[in-house]
Amino acid sequence: MIAGICKELQENEKRVALTPEGVEKLISLGINVQIEQGAGLASSYTDENYTTSGASIVASRDQILSSSDLLIAVNAPDNETIKKMKSGSVLISFIWPLQNGDYIELLKSQNITGMAMDTIPRISRAQSMDALSSMSNIAGYKAALMGANQLDRYLPMMMTAAGTIPPAKVLVLGAGVAGLQAIATAKRLGAVVEAFDVRPIVKEQVESLGAKFVEVPLEEEAETTGGYAKELSDRNKDKQREVIHEHVKKSDIVITTALIPGRPAPLLVTRAMVEDMSPGSVVVDIAAEQGGNCEVTKPGETSFHDGVAIVAPLNIPSTLAFHASKLYSKNIMSLLSLLIEEGKPNFNFEDEIIANATVTHKGDVISPFVKENMK
Ligand code: NAI
Repeated sequence: MIAGICKELQENEKRVALTPEGVEKLISLGINVQIEQGAGLASSYTDENYTTSGASIVASRDQILSSSDLLIAVNAPDNETIKKMKSGSVLISFIWPLQNGDYIELLKSQNITGMAMDTIPRISRAQSMDALSSMSNIAGYKAALMGANQLDRYLPMMMTAAGTIPPAKVLVLGAGVAGLQAIATAKRLGAVVEAFDVRPIVKEQVESLGAKFVEVPLEEEAETTGGYAKELSDRNKDKQREVIHEHVKKSDIVITTALIPGRPAPLLVTRAMVEDMSPGSVVVDIAAEQGGNCEVTKPGETSFHDGVAIVAPLNIPSTLAFHASKLYSKNIMSLLSLLIEEGKPNFNFEDEIIANATVTHKGDVISPFVKENMK
């Protein structure tokens, strides 16, 4: 069996799906690995690193696509790439099936088994495969650094001969994986940190990181049975905004990370709130990819509104490409260690990880998660 890894084609994408360490592991599972020439260079993995690990370097992308039984990628490859893959071969990448119905039809018609890293269930046994968490963790860390970098003030308290500077105030909205890492990083940089999330369960996690949890009394359950957030009623949204407004206007940096699966990002920071912030303060909106949590966010840009910087980067994990690739590659290898038996994939759909990750197989949709949530 042959696995192929091509250079990612998406603009500003520096990650690579498999590192040389991953290549060694894959070879130990009895699989030959071919890497497109230069595929790892943007994340600092050289062709030489790959050949030392036992991979073959191939100059032609088309050759990799037509000869691989397994294609491993970060982003879902474009339609042209799918059409060049071998019928019956397996693709593993982020796919976002619920947002990409046409793509699922293409995978079915081309007889590609599509396994989505984003539909692996978030259960304990699958933690080592959880690429959503690996990438969110990076996004949270980078969000705090970007906020600190944009701010024209110190984060920690500074006692100098010229006077004492108080610590900066950071507010984190959304305390999932990314938000918790943003809290931890801002704390390490010396800021005073507060955080809010609609899921009351995270209060304890926020406090264990040394941050203060902002309480908003809500009249409804804001968590699904799967542990994710759900959209609030208008009445509760207003209530939440009232409390958040008071905290936003006192903050030097507001980091927003709130997401609701399958929905646009909720609006948490309104134009009026930004206008109440002090000039020079910063909003870092890492929900920008889903439209953003701040009303004046311009996805992909750093813009200014009333003297406040609104930092709204896209694809943050790619900015830490070396480690993002390393972690993603480990997530992939954990999934493959479960999937590969005697050198080939064993699609045991009795296993909830394999079943949920397998979006398409032999022309059908398999994943119960996708079937349940498909419109
Ligand atoms: P996410 O990226 O979907 O959302 C980020 C955060 O935004 C969440 O904490 C969510 O509650 C919050 N949010 C949504 N609407 C909001 C609003 N209006 N105001 C404030 N906050 C709002 O979440 P993520 O980080 O992917 O984690 C989701 C869940 O999955 C969590 O329960 C987490 O503990 C769980 N999880 C479980 C894992 C496992 O057991 N293997 C691994 C990782 C996460």
